[in-house]
Amino acid sequence: MTLENYTPQAKFAHKDMLCLQDYTKDEIFQILALALELKKKKKAGVSHEYLKGKTLAMIFTKSSTRTRVSFETGMQQLGGHAMFLSGSDIQLGRGEPISDTAQVLSRMVDCIMISTYAHSDIEQLAKYSTVPVINALSDYLHPCQVLADLQTIYEHKGRFEGLKLAYIGDGNNMAHSLMLGCTKVGMSISVGCPEGYMPDAGITALAAQNAAENGCRLCITQDPAEAIKDADIVYCDVWASMGQEAEQEKRCKAFAGYCVDEKLFSLAAKDAKFMHCLPAHRGEEVSAGVIDSPASIIFDQAENRLHAQKALMVLLVNGWPL
Ligand code: CP
Ligand code: NVA
Repeated sequence: MTLENYTPQAKFAHKDMLCLQDYTKDEIFQILALALELKKKKKAGVSHEYLKGKTLAMIFTKSSTRTRVSFETGMQQLGGHAMFLSGSDIQLGRGEPISDTAQVLSRMVDCIMISTYAHSDIEQLAKYSTVPVINALSDYLHPCQVLADLQTIYEHKGRFEGLKLAYIGDGNNMAHSLMLGCTKVGMSISVGCPEGYMPDAGITALAAQNAAENGCRLCITQDPAEAIKDADIVYCDVWASMGQEAEQEKRCKAFAGYCVDEKLFSLAAKDAKFMHCLPAHRGEEVSAGVIDSPASIIFDQAENRLHAQKALMVLLVNGWPL
């Protein structure tokens, strides 16, 4: 399977992107194939204004660098316009129902993205919105990051089949979306988490089912060395996510031994790559020596947020073929 000149097997017919599990392998490949094509066009200076005159509303109740800049820049490159709406500035922050917000925005804009805490808030927004809603981060999932990650892995490794990704750390939103995304495209994933910080049981069951269907493996272990052994990609995220700042000290103790330092990373495959969704805490979940080494592809990942989300927006708003 190659993503260059990919031929879709079925019509891309989704309104929203809330969770990668809602998408087939073919639909994920459509997004990734278009992301590669849009990236090529951007680098070659070829105009690709597929969303000319369209408006994206961007609701943020969480801090962000990558998500905000990639969506806003991406919409502008597609010929559209993006509007930053801070949760504390719009009426949502003063108690206006999400259902009303969804219906009002749907009358004016063509797509909505939201980065917030409760996943149920994003589901509510999608339920009442008539335009596409994109989950740009919830406490439960981070599908846009994983689309960019899959694009990055494909660019570096040229395939998904036969690869193993090791995620070391908290069983959080990143772990969840990686477990679903990797197993959907046929890539094995090993998750190394301490007791009490394991991924959600429902997500684990879905990922196990995907793995069985797509010929890859899911492994959940408390032993970081076992998780990382022979991995082609080693992935980290912070130990205390946004909203968990008060638990920082407690978590640092719980995650002792889970720092991906040179010794742990040496257990991975010889040509293993290091990935991190960022922002990173050097000296906590990863050593500076690993994250700043030639094996690290963190800035390719960050850049691909732009290309992968542009592809997603084009497909949600216009569908395939373009
Ligand atoms: N990785 C990511 O989503 O980063 P931001 O929080 O900066 O958007
Ligand atoms: N788990 C992190 C991811 C940030 C991109 C958080 O939710 O803060």
